[in-house]
Amino acid sequence: MAGKTEPLPGTSDLWQPELAEWRLLEDSARDIFERYAFSEVRTPIFERTTIFTKSIGDDTDVVQKEMYTFKDRGNRSLTLRPEGTASVMRAIANKGLNQGEEKRVYYMGPMFRGERPAAGRRRQFHQIGVEAVGRCAPMMDVECISMLVHFLEEVGISDAQVLLNTRGVGDDKKLVTEALFNYFEPLAEKMCEDCQRRLHTNVSRMLDCKNEDCKKYASDAPAIVDLVCEDSREYFQQVCAGLDNLGIKYKVDPKMVRGLDYYVHTIFEVVHSGLGAQDAVAGGGRYQIMLPGGKKPVEGVGFACGMERLLMIREALGLKCEPTVDADIYIVSLGEKALATLPKLAMELRKSGLRVLAEVEKKSMKSQMRAANRVGVPIVLIRGENEIDDGVVQCKNMETSEQVQVPVAELCSWIKDALKK
Ligand code: HAM
Repeated sequence: MAGKTEPLPGTSDLWQPELAEWRLLEDSARDIFERYAFSEVRTPIFERTTIFTKSIGDDTDVVQKEMYTFKDRGNRSLTLRPEGTASVMRAIANKGLNQGEEKRVYYMGPMFRGERPAAGRRRQFHQIGVEAVGRCAPMMDVECISMLVHFLEEVGISDAQVLLNTRGVGDDKKLVTEALFNYFEPLAEKMCEDCQRRLHTNVSRMLDCKNEDCKKYASDAPAIVDLVCEDSREYFQQVCAGLDNLGIKYKVDPKMVRGLDYYVHTIFEVVHSGLGAQDAVAGGGRYQIMLPGGKKPVEGVGFACGMERLLMIREALGLKCEPTVDADIYIVSLGEKALATLPKLAMELRKSGLRVLAEVEKKSMKSQMRAANRVGVPIVLIRGENEIDDGVVQCKNMETSEQVQVPVAELCSWIKDALKK
């Protein structure tokens, strides 16, 4: 039976109490991002395949090896979103962005990549991401990185490391490609098969190959920041100066290139020692993406954090939400009259904001108290015929076992007081 009910490899069912942690991340993200005037967007989980191939790039691992692509009944090629940026750009194109207009959005939800599952690498994983679209300025990149650091601190992660690099823009790509090609060409035959292919398709990816031999060959490669034009170098320096000004620590990593093709200028990753081999908790950068039907690419800057990885770091740091129980109150009903009037009482308490669980069938006192104990509620209300006739309820504090009789009219305020709500 087990094999048939387990979720597929690289996917998970999520339950309480773990979900309390997820909610903390989501609530913190909303809180922090809205302080920077970002608003939420939700896009579909699947899109036309070209939405991703055109923006992420044909020769990226994501497009080449990792997308869940299928034909629908109308023979259209569709893909489960492997990331959020392309979908958000499509949504913005659909809504229309006026000349000079800016948009700041955030999103959270599942993404899908057919990677080999490992610790911190899932096939369905969840991202919290942001995109600030419509403006190209170093200070926008600084604001975006500082918001990410602010968010990480808010969820208890203040020892992550920001890695920073540039990709240049426009003709820089040609300059960088040529210089790296010249450097790697004589070495390529000693490097892995992927790198031999990358030499001709995406040479900058040879800088961050994970193969140990390739790493050695890449170690003396020229740094991208030294290959880009003066203006791009100046842009990068302004980003560094902006971060310095805010006291945000970062390390320039000349080998970092990021795995998606749409980036220009600033790129960044945030890594944490609590993660092991898959050590990036967030990644992002500035991009130019051609929107469907658009005449020129849209500029933006953004990032995405992996929620599973955020939770792994919180666990490594020993951070945990307070355990919660599913209800504040359990109502025990003794006899027909109590059962008949139970729904009205439960409804009133719920409408006043309390979380209420009640036995809805005729059961013994003992079995109802056992059920209340199982749930772990702090307060049990007990009502029999006498209580109903007298307009009172017996209220039992489960922690102290103290029991008091409370008039129905004062019940809500008594409970809230007892719960300190
Ligand atoms: P990315 O680096 O591909 O960037 O993914 C961002 C984060 O998602 C990673 O740092 C990691 O935490 C998490 N992640 C990625 N793949 C997996 C996986 N298979 N399992 C678990 N977690 C994973 C992007 O997706 C860009 N769209 C970010 C961006 C937004 N750039 C500009 N705007």
